Amino acid sequence: MMRCLIQKKTFLVILSALLLFALLRYWTLRATTTVDVGPGQSNKAQKVLKERLQNVQNSYDNIPYVLKESVAGRLALNGCVCEADKKPAIDLPFAQVLFPRVWAQDDFHTAFQEAKLAQVKSRRQQEYNSFQQRYQTPADLLVIAEANSPLQYPTQGVVVRPLKTIVIPGLGLKEKHRQLHTVNLTATVGTFDVLATVDGVSVRGQGVMHMTLSSSLLSTLNRQLQFVTYTNTLFHPKTADTVQFETDGHQSVFTIKVGHAVIPKLYHSGYTGEYNISSLVTIATKTFLRYDKLQDLIDSIREFYPTIAIVIADDNEHPQPVIGPHIEHYIMPFGKGWFAGRNLAVSQVTTKYVLWVDDDFLFTSNTRLENMVEVLEKTTLDMVGGAVREATGYTATFRHTISVEEGGEEGDCIHIRNGYHHVIQGFPNCVLADAVINFFMGRTDKMQQVGFDPRLNRVAHLAPSMWISSLVLLTLRKWLFSGPILPEFFIDGLGILHIASCDDIIINHASKIKLPWGKSDSEKAYAKFRYSSSDAGQIRNALFYFKNRLKCMSSN
Ligand SMILES: *[C@@H]1O[C@H](CO)[C@@H](O)[C@H](O)[C@H]1NC(C)=O
Ligand SMILES: *[C@@H]1O[C@H](CO)[C@@H](O)[C@H](O)[C@H]1NC(C)=O
Repeated sequence: MMRCLIQKKTFLVILSALLLFALLRYWTLRATTTVDVGPGQSNKAQKVLKERLQNVQNSYDNIPYVLKESVAGRLALNGCVCEADKKPAIDLPFAQVLFPRVWAQDDFHTAFQEAKLAQVKSRRQQEYNSFQQRYQTPADLLVIAEANSPLQYPTQGVVVRPLKTIVIPGLGLKEKHRQLHTVNLTATVGTFDVLATVDGVSVRGQGVMHMTLSSSLLSTLNRQLQFVTYTNTLFHPKTADTVQFETDGHQSVFTIKVGHAVIPKLYHSGYTGEYNISSLVTIATKTFLRYDKLQDLIDSIREFYPTIAIVIADDNEHPQPVIGPHIEHYIMPFGKGWFAGRNLAVSQVTTKYVLWVDDDFLFTSNTRLENMVEVLEKTTLDMVGGAVREATGYTATFRHTISVEEGGEEGDCIHIRNGYHHVIQGFPNCVLADAVINFFMGRTDKMQQVGFDPRLNRVAHLAPSMWISSLVLLTLRKWLFSGPILPEFFIDGLGILHIASCDDIIINHASKIKLPWGKSDSEKAYAKFRYSSSDAGQIRNALFYFKNRLKCMSSN
């Protein structure tokens, strides 16, 4: 018995030692291939491409030309400005409300102290450089196919998974008969080989980064080219191989993308036939000092959608319980702000879509979420905005387009304008836009991807009215249309979110502007918090300047 135990122990010790050895060996083997994922890797292929491009551009330098000013003006010149419309000669009262002019703000940099600005700028440049390193791949390089090249090759669409092998499709050589037909292939992060050999073709460089194929017969060489394989040997998280393909006097370049397949994130909503809104959509909102309004909202939702889930983020100092079926109430630290609250609420959503509403909105029979789901289900869009009806009867959709103009070292210019791109086919009430009103439904995963920057505090309701100094105008404008947009969110989401705005899906806005003496205590407290934060604008400017690398903004 004792002997048996000792034997068992010895056996275990030996086994562990063997395993440890194997593991160490595995580690050292693994450590032999490394990839430089740091910034600043110079690429030979990039240099070649640059030289070729210069050659193409420099030919015909001696032929004169005449510039067409009207078109030249539309081109980005690596410099941009944000210009406000000129003031009209006669300054009518309420002119800004009735005929909004373009306003501009170009002092984002003043969010930083003058003395520190140089340091901030260089830090921003560093971050920007590394951003570009992360977002640009060799597949984004400009490649020009030369005229009359005898080389045939794939211009795009060749993809290889990391460290895997593919047959390169479409390689060929079309030239007149000569003594020896030769082509070369050169890769930067992979090797070549042949899947099969063809008699009469010499293949040199199998299994390395440079391969030469030659034959006295063009047809056999072309046959051999059909069997050329590429194996990725160095995997960089986001990259492509720039392959040079050449023959005597001709050179071409094509890219092979290297990357994992995208793993989808699919939602099983369980419905068959009719949409079951409750299993597809969650309503998210953020509340602060307005429990009476919130309860009205919940009651109005329950009238039309008794089982839909409601997620509430709450950053009150003295939170009150909000109870009821299908309600999730999240208490946050006091005063975390609108954006942090939005972020929290959206992060808890598990349905395919999330509907954003403000806590002082009210559902009516016009608030048909089915219509929003319909647009999202039948198009490739990520977000649909609706319309907000004010107590005054005015219905606002607030659809905007956003454009970014390159501004060089100082940062870019962003221009926000009222308007939209196109009407969406099949949905005559819906248009494509870049920013919409504060009442929207979006794909949950996309909304989470863009996120609401929690550093922005209580400046969510940023209407252009912020820049109208006159208190009268401010009040009038707020009274007329108070459902503004969230430019910060849509600027972060530009290019990621594809957005529609439909004017036939309407939510009501509980009236907001009352004469000061008609306000309840909680309303007074709310107004104080919401309209009085002066450094909020400063934080926002700092984020525009550093995070978004913007110099200025113009809007109407
Ligand atoms: C092909 O590569 C070989 C070996 O590297 C080189 O000697 C030859 O000049 C190259 N041919 C062409 C057409 O680039
Ligand atoms: C819709 O989905 C909800 C939640 O998933 C469920 O409680 C409800 O019974 C469903 N309604 C129908 C009509 O299927």
